[in-house]
Amino acid sequence: MTDGEETPDADESAGDESGAGDGTAANATGGTAIRRDRFSGGPARGFMSSLAADRRIFAADLQVDRAHVVMLAEQGIIDDENAAAILDALADIEAAGHGELPEAEDVHEAVETAVIQRVGPEGGRMHTARSRNDEVATCIRYRLREDLLAVAEATVALREALVEVASEHAETVMPGYTHLQPAQPTTVAHYLCSYEGGVARDTERLLDAYDRVNRSPLGAAAFAGTPFDVDRERTAELLGFAGVAENSMDASATRDFLVEVTAALANLATTLSGLAEDVIVMASKGHVELADEYSSTSSIMPQKKNPDTLELVRGRSGDATAGLNGLLTNLKGQPRAYNRDLQRAGRHAWDAIDSVTESVEVAAGAVTTAEWPVETLRDAAGEGFSTATGVADLLAMAGMPFRTAHEVVAEAAETLGPEENAPDYETLDAVCADIVGEPLSQFVDREAVEDALYPVQSVAMRDSRGGPAPEAVTEALDTAQQRLDDDGAALAERQDALAAAAAELDSEVESYV
Ligand code: ARG
Repeated sequence: MTDGEETPDADESAGDESGAGDGTAANATGGTAIRRDRFSGGPARGFMSSLAADRRIFAADLQVDRAHVVMLAEQGIIDDENAAAILDALADIEAAGHGELPEAEDVHEAVETAVIQRVGPEGGRMHTARSRNDEVATCIRYRLREDLLAVAEATVALREALVEVASEHAETVMPGYTHLQPAQPTTVAHYLCSYEGGVARDTERLLDAYDRVNRSPLGAAAFAGTPFDVDRERTAELLGFAGVAENSMDASATRDFLVEVTAALANLATTLSGLAEDVIVMASKGHVELADEYSSTSSIMPQKKNPDTLELVRGRSGDATAGLNGLLTNLKGQPRAYNRDLQRAGRHAWDAIDSVTESVEVAAGAVTTAEWPVETLRDAAGEGFSTATGVADLLAMAGMPFRTAHEVVAEAAETLGPEENAPDYETLDAVCADIVGEPLSQFVDREAVEDALYPVQSVAMRDSRGGPAPEAVTEALDTAQQRLDDDGAALAERQDALAAAAAELDSEVESYV
């Protein structure tokens, strides 16, 4: 796995619309099969081209072309012979690869030019009853589905890792913090499940977004529909979309689906950043040990083992957030229906998806391979009188008003020396007599107080639903496992639908060539 920011592939990297990654477009003069000479050259040619960045949607574009051509033939808009020749050319263009496309403003124009080069003027029938506007919107959605399923699948794998490690540590007591101050003891399982729950919502958001991405704009044409008798349902079906994006102006203009995907990714990246930060802090205290594969060292300090992978996970959360900002800034204030600004919208989502997918995978690997030192964690769990709330709860359960119990325990805490973690029974008893006017034994027996002062018992007491007591966490783990099975099935269903559509399109294409 490489860190994308250090090893950009020139051809894929952002900014290549300037022509930096695509000399052909920048240096071109003369017309293509598509545009007349008047619009073909000039110093801004490279600036306008997205051909290099469109590598991402090259395969999608060919599928969209195929579905469109099959539909045109079925509707009698073009004849079967022309359809066959175009479909044949598309296969040839695919085999040659994106790098062999002729120079053009974008992949759509390049593929059409390549078709016309192979088929002759009849190849120009491919672009009947559509525009690059509905075409590009369809290509983006088509490709995005695959990427969304991949990142959603990665979140499921991360959750599986969290659940698996949690299952091994249902009884491993550890310190829990608020404000980074020792607060109450909890367990490693409870802690890890807290992130499983967060990432589960990330999976849900991604799948939700998927269902709105999964609508076909094709047939909307430039924005205003077409006089041809197109069958939008049919192209949607051949491309595996669950239906059409209805209004033709909305269909070709909107990129709101990119916003929700990128927002879901930014949210996910922020969840991961929190997990990363926790583990970084815990590692610094020896509360968790990362595997060597997920650590780095210093070039000068030989003793160092640093949690660099997680620092990059934390750092990369900025990529997705920046992407969301970039995207919204691009889209804000664009009038209906199509503007070329949109050519620079997709990159924010692609960059975010690549960056965050890798982060999810690295986080899963780091979690799976980390060691949780049971004894160190148990010893640390009682630090800073973290059992205080449990003692106050015990007194309140025995009938003392909670506010009074809080005061008794707070008074006792005042007596602690710097090395002491908890007051003893005698101290609590004396403070109780002082504040309440009655001995502690009036409320609760000595053994119960001493239990409550012990982190393991303190955790065991908190068995409310969703709490850290081992039985409560075991139930939560069952629920998490059930949710994982459901999400796995939801993913498989969508993957199968895409594969089935691809197979159907394949066999339709086969029937022509
Ligand atoms: N490359 C363009 C994009 O990504 C395709 C649409 C161009 N349409 C137009 N009317 N100029 O948005």
